[in-house]
Parts: sequence; C-alpha cells; structure tokens
Amino acid sequence: MTDLSLTEDFDLQPHHTFGLPSRARWGGFLHRPEHIAEALGFAQARGLPFFLLGGGSNVVPLPFVDGVVGVLRLSGRSLARGADGVVRLTAAAGESWPELVAWTVGQGIGGLENLSGIPGTVGAAPVQNIGAYGTEIAELVDSVRVLDLTDLSQQVIAGADCAFRYRQSRFKDEPGRYAILSVTLALPTDWAPNLGYRGLDTLPQTATPAEVAEAVLAIRGSKLPDWRVLGNAGSFFHNPVVAADHPAAQIEGAPRYPAPDGVKLSAGWLLEQAGMKGHRLGGAGFHAGHALVMVNHGTATCEDVAALTAEAQAAVQAKFGVALVREPLTLG
Ligand code: EPU
Repeated sequence: MTDLSLTEDFDLQPHHTFGLPSRARWGGFLHRPEHIAEALGFAQARGLPFFLLGGGSNVVPLPFVDGVVGVLRLSGRSLARGADGVVRLTAAAGESWPELVAWTVGQGIGGLENLSGIPGTVGAAPVQNIGAYGTEIAELVDSVRVLDLTDLSQQVIAGADCAFRYRQSRFKDEPGRYAILSVTLALPTDWAPNLGYRGLDTLPQTATPAEVAEAVLAIRGSKLPDWRVLGNAGSFFHNPVVAADHPAAQIEGAPRYPAPDGVKLSAGWLLEQAGMKGHRLGGAGFHAGHALVMVNHGTATCEDVAALTAEAQAAVQAKFGVALVREPLTLG
C-alpha cells in the first residue's frame, strides 16, 4: 500500500484541454511509479478498465468513463553530457512538455525549439510522436523508460525500437500496455537551426534556439487557438495519405507533400474547402483561423463533438473521396 488517493465520481473536465463535461467512476493523481501499479491493482480488483492521462491534450473523453483514470504527475528533469559528448535530457512523464522545451532553450541548448508550445506532458510526447515545423520527437528520442502493465516490469526501450511513424508509435500500437515513466532525449552536438518550414525560412542561419522558439511560438499563436481560451485537442484529424493517382492529389492549388506510401494531403485545406472552417454544431466548431482544429465554444458536449466529427468526415468524403481519421484518442 502507498499513499495513493483515488476519488469516486472523478471530474475529468479540468484534466483535459478540450474542457468537455466528463466524469470517471474513479480517478486520482499518480506521483510515483508505485502509484501506477497500485491504481492498476485497484481497477483490476473491481473488474474495471484502467486509463492513464497525461496533460489530456490529445484526448476526447466519453461523457462517463466507466473505469479508473490515473492522471500522471511524475516529476523531475536532468541534463547530463555523456562520454560521447551528447547531451542527454531526461524528464519524468508528468513534466510539462512546453516548459521543458523553454527550460532547454533558456539555457541556450538547441534541439527542441521547433517543438515549442505544444501542450501536454513529456510522457505523452512519444505516444503520438509529436511533430511540428519540420521536427518530430522521433529524431531526438534516445530511450523511453516504461512500466509494462502486463507484468509490472520496468523496461528501457531504445528510440529505434519505438516504431515511430507520422503521429504513430509502438505505444499507440499497443494501447494500455505501457505506462511511460520518463523520456531521455539526445540533443544534437552539432546543432544548427531547422528553418525549412515556411515562416521560419526568413530567419538567418545564425539564429539561436531562443530566436527559433520565439518564431515558432509566434506562428502557433497566429494560427492555433490557445486551449485555455478555446478548449481544443490540437489537430483533430491526421493529414491523409492517398495514392499518387487519387483525384484529390491532382487538384490545382491543393497543398500536398511527398509521403513514403503516396501523397500526404492537408486535412485543414480539405476541411476548409468542404465548408467546415468556422462551422459550428452545438457548442463545438471548427476554428475560424485553422479548420483542422475543433474547438469548444464553451458549452460543447461529447455528443456535439461526435456529431461534428461525423459531419466533417462525411463532407470531406463526399467532396473529395478522402476518409479523414481522427487524431486525438478516445478516453473511456
Ligand atoms: N490550410 C488551409 N486551411 C486551413 C488550415 C490549413 O488551407 O484551415 C492549409 C495551409 O495553408 C497549409 C496547409 O493547409 O498550406 C498545412 O497547414 P499547416 O502548416 O498549418 O499544418 P497542418 O498540416 O495543418 C501540421 C500538424 C500540426 C503542426 C503543423 C506545423 C498534423 C495533423 N498537424 O498541421 O500539429 O503544428 O503541421 O508543423 O500533422 C497537432 O498535431 O495538434 C498539431 C497542431
């Protein structure tokens, strides 16, 4: 037994960035790995499913989560230079990702600046292989320490074994199997700014990590809603990959990017063309500034979100013959 405290009828609304009304049968905060094991045992003893939540920035909860939800709060971060000269940054799963990035940038350490301002926790970052402005965390992950919930063993999984792909990973492939305890990032010894993304390409090659971070935060602020003002879960759909000869890939003026297995299209562009930009249903809507982000105008319910998701998928399917896949995970 530890000092774990679980509460019945746990309110999930303050613990995810969409701000939807949702409650869990049980829930509580997990500050140490032992709390995770104990909360799992608590759920198993009652025949209930067990769910882990980080910052709740990439989830859509069900109105009632009939299980035990543990909100990860493991904390701690350290920097070490190895014998190989590589700076390794280790952070516990419950640390804030944007604060961690700002902390390294503030020390003049480069590598994470293009991933500035992404809401959520460190532990959630490898799960969906967060990526923005030309960088994916996959490029930087040295290893991930996990608790395997099938046998409660701790394992260290090398970055190369995390099966990282666009917005995918081993942790998404096997949902519920691993609790991520900490992530170790290997930061480049020969850092140079990554200015390939449109909007960053006006910066000089001499730009510092702090200058790149500032530019990234400005781009984000101009396009993406702040979840503290308008609840949201970031990009609501994956950018779809279609065959090179798909009619949607031939459309004049449509943004498209090469992908290993075809052509990647812009879900935001497709949604805008299908009339979804700024469109509302109940308390939910697609952001007026970026059609890829579904927002909570204050009174959105889980039902509004589900109905608007279906409407948007049907509209894009009808207009372009492209199936959009939702990006945030369901909690419950
Ligand atoms: N676009 C439109 N209309 C819109 C939105 C976008 O025409 O309403 C067009 C843009 O003009 C641009 C293209 O779509 O030509 C792509 O837009 P953007 O550069 O904003 O990037 P994105 O593909 O929509 C992805 C990530 C974001 C990440 C940005 C920047 C996904 C699902 N999303 O968005 O990640 O910040 O690139 O790298 O891959 C997130 O995952 O939550 C997220 C915000």
